[in-house]
Amino acid sequence: KEDEFVSELLGKMTLSEKIGQLNQHTSRWEMTGPAPKNNDSQDQLEQIKNGEVGSMLNVTGAEATLNAQKLAVENSRLGIPMIFGYDVIHGYQTMFPIPLAEASSWDPEIVKLSAQVAAKEASAAGLQWTFAPMMDVGRDARWGRVMEGCGEDPYLASVLSVARIKGFQGTDLSANNTIAACAKHFAGYGFSESGRDYNTVDIGSYTLHNIVLPPFKAVAEADVSTFMNSFNIINGTPSTANPYLQRNLLKNKWNFKGFVVSDWGSIEEISNHGAAENLKEAGLLAIKAGSDMDMESNAYSKYLKELVDEGKVDEKLIDDAVKRILKIKYKLGLFNDPYQYSNIEREKKEIYSKENRTAARNVARHSMVLLKNKAQLLPLSKQIKSIALIGPLADSKDIPLGSWRAKAIKNSAVSLLEGIQSAVSAKTKINYSKGCNLTIGDRSFLQELSYEQNDKSGFQDAIKAAQNSEVVIMALGEDCWQSGEGRSQTDIRLKGQQQDLFNAVKKVNKNIVVVLMNGRPLAIPEIAENAAAVLETWFGGSEAGNAIADVLFGDYNPSGKLTMSFPRNAGQCPIYYNHMNTGRPTSTNNVFWSHYTDAPNTPLYPFGYGLSYTSFAYGEATINSSAIKKDETIEIKISLANTGKYEGEEVVQLYIQDPKATYARPVKELKQFKKIKLKPDENIQVSFKLKPEDLGYYSPEGEFLIESGEYHIYVGGNSQEVKQVNFTLID
Ligand code: IFM
Repeated sequence: KEDEFVSELLGKMTLSEKIGQLNQHTSRWEMTGPAPKNNDSQDQLEQIKNGEVGSMLNVTGAEATLNAQKLAVENSRLGIPMIFGYDVIHGYQTMFPIPLAEASSWDPEIVKLSAQVAAKEASAAGLQWTFAPMMDVGRDARWGRVMEGCGEDPYLASVLSVARIKGFQGTDLSANNTIAACAKHFAGYGFSESGRDYNTVDIGSYTLHNIVLPPFKAVAEADVSTFMNSFNIINGTPSTANPYLQRNLLKNKWNFKGFVVSDWGSIEEISNHGAAENLKEAGLLAIKAGSDMDMESNAYSKYLKELVDEGKVDEKLIDDAVKRILKIKYKLGLFNDPYQYSNIEREKKEIYSKENRTAARNVARHSMVLLKNKAQLLPLSKQIKSIALIGPLADSKDIPLGSWRAKAIKNSAVSLLEGIQSAVSAKTKINYSKGCNLTIGDRSFLQELSYEQNDKSGFQDAIKAAQNSEVVIMALGEDCWQSGEGRSQTDIRLKGQQQDLFNAVKKVNKNIVVVLMNGRPLAIPEIAENAAAVLETWFGGSEAGNAIADVLFGDYNPSGKLTMSFPRNAGQCPIYYNHMNTGRPTSTNNVFWSHYTDAPNTPLYPFGYGLSYTSFAYGEATINSSAIKKDETIEIKISLANTGKYEGEEVVQLYIQDPKATYARPVKELKQFKKIKLKPDENIQVSFKLKPEDLGYYSPEGEFLIESGEYHIYVGGNSQEVKQVNFTLID
């Protein structure tokens, strides 16, 4: 039906109207990229009325989208509705934890719930399209955008990105509470050299096929509506101008039927990379490569007609791009009712509702990772006599909202102080002291931050609070504007005076629980060594303070596991568990082996790591046979017992290693996981079934190989502490 409708409509369109559908503009009052050069809003209005704008980004709210949509529908010749896109990354107004945090739940249902609520709110505000999820594999904590992804593992990123897409898109895209998702950034953006955003990417095709592409393939198979290409080059060709990625792979081999939007100005940036002479040539390369919609480069609107007239672009390419865009608009129900998403009443009712905030609190509880708990200091009793709450993040109602926060209202989060106040008994004395500032001056989405360098004037007050309290809770970490787009850092230790503050407090009270808030793995060896307990809470969203208190006081037993390795220092970056073995992996009796001379190779906390208030014991791993044929199923079993005092959840992780293959394989690769809840003294047999395809990998040429020979299976509660069983795959 949609094919018929779209073909008929296409038949009526002039070339200019077709090109109009490929043109996307930002609103003039919100920027998520460099400011547009042509800042004339009058021009923009005229373009919309002439049917020369197919989509807008950064127009939000039922009223604004309704008005803009009317301009297009009521004035243009064919009345084709625009599609409104926005970066709804971890919530629209009700903020959920940042995606890296949600990934720590290792729970697809939790991730899906967050996306569902975000879609409900965004769609009520007139939006039909989110530029999420980001599925760039993140191995380098210096890169600020790791906050927006699922971490360092391609399998986990695949599972969780599919869950996110299901949450956004639901089962019926035309329903007014679901929105189209966008798989980004295609491809390789997470591998910017030295973690500097927008930097050159230089990865081999082996890494491209095995690490970068699998999550994208998984979401293409799960019917994601759109893709966004990326700013970087791959093998010298900007992704936006890359026909291999967008045409050969995505549209042909993977049979993706949706459309590809460029990133902000990424068509224009083809010239900056030095791969095109000017904007016109950049437009030519981009359309040929399969970039369907032009976000903010104005390359298509300015030059596509000329390029067709000159015979350089076949109009069929434009037709294909237009069809793809119109199809998604059709699926969204926009041709049925272009205004169905812009409902002021629904907007008032749906956005920031109590129900949505309850969901955000639930997701935030699941996203936290307990990194240390010496002598079972946590959970704390709600009847505790006194608590010192110290640190520059302790009373912040803004920082927990995180970066990429869409329409969150500034200072609207529940702070940690507020969360603790509502959790403890009336008799508990809370001695709050900020101790120091983290940043000085203004802070916002578009601004560089300045950090406090010298001021220790708050230390005395903090020391006094710590002296007068049974337990100290210190809220330390990052400002939320330290991570996100354009926020790479060379030094990922605690900034400002935070480490000194910790050291000063530690001298007077050893019972310190560090509550970390941050958007990337931090290098915190002194904290790991000297704090009694460390709880990673990331940026937990609107309900962060309540959710953290739920964990600190035992209303929720933490169950999260890290999805990025925590380095000991930035010099170890990029650091990731699924690395290659190297030719000299182990210590020799001299220096000639692959290591650092000033730090271990291992991370501070490994991938998959996270504690619980209870303890779990693993039995030995067993396998159904030591020799398995390629058409048989491999079954691995392991017993898991809750040996502690609390009910708790454990993420049982299964890794494989192919120790000898045609191409060298990683030392471990995650292949499956199960999150299991057990009562004290309960134990079960956990069973995993692997298919021979799960053992396969891609050659550098992109050919999928399943090789016979010996395999190692590792099962455990993190990527380092595992039980091993081996088998041979036979033909
Ligand atoms: O969606 C984003 C993208 O991830 C980075 N550049 C800007 C886009 C639109 O805001």
